[in-house]
Amino acid sequence: MIPTPHIELENKDLIAKTVLMPGDPLRAKYIAETFLTKVVQINGVRNMFGYTGYFNKKKVTVMGSGMGMPSIGIYSYELFNFYDVEQIIRIGSCGSYSKDLNLYDVVLVTDAYSESSYAKTMGVSSRKILPATKSLNNRLIKAADKLGFKMTPSIIHSSDVFYRINHDEWKDIQAKYQANAVEMESFALFANAKALKKKAACLLTVSDSLVTHEATSAKERQEAFTKMMEIALNSL
Ligand code: HPA
Repeated sequence: MIPTPHIELENKDLIAKTVLMPGDPLRAKYIAETFLTKVVQINGVRNMFGYTGYFNKKKVTVMGSGMGMPSIGIYSYELFNFYDVEQIIRIGSCGSYSKDLNLYDVVLVTDAYSESSYAKTMGVSSRKILPATKSLNNRLIKAADKLGFKMTPSIIHSSDVFYRINHDEWKDIQAKYQANAVEMESFALFANAKALKKKAACLLTVSDSLVTHEATSAKERQEAFTKMMEIALNSL
């Protein structure tokens, strides 16, 4: 049934079958302005910016997810289940847990490990590790190859918290699950895709390192993140 509690749209055609989902709504605006043609702003998405346009004649929607699993959980569920979206590619930032993942490296998420109860609570899976959709990942790998951009496949950690009291716990998580980076959304996105038989993938750019304690500035991030955006758009 549309409209939904968080996406107030009467017409499903305003949303493409493929959605690119950055965490930051301003990044959705940036992608629409930088890469898309014939852009229409989607009004009525609560607390969020959304735009639909075309990239190489392919219709695509870009919409922010907000930060954290409950937030991406709500928007992605409504898009998949009520607006007939078939695939969502999250494009976000991550912290590095590995000396081999440096600032601005692009990570292709193969699986998301999480201590979150999201998938269990939802009734979709009692597993703590959920995979991205293989066919989508293969398309992203092809697109990155074609563009000549390096992309590192990895298991990642979807964390419920940004600020941990026991800061060094990441070392145990990295060792136990081979999770080389941390973000806060993929696990819920993959759970929704599994629940609703849809497709989901996630590309991440390293914005900070828990190993070296380096971090990027907001401006540097904006520019470096275009690589991951181009990979996602060229995979359509
Ligand atoms: N922790 C959690 N999420 C993140 C981080 C981090 O260090 N960096 C970017 N997203």
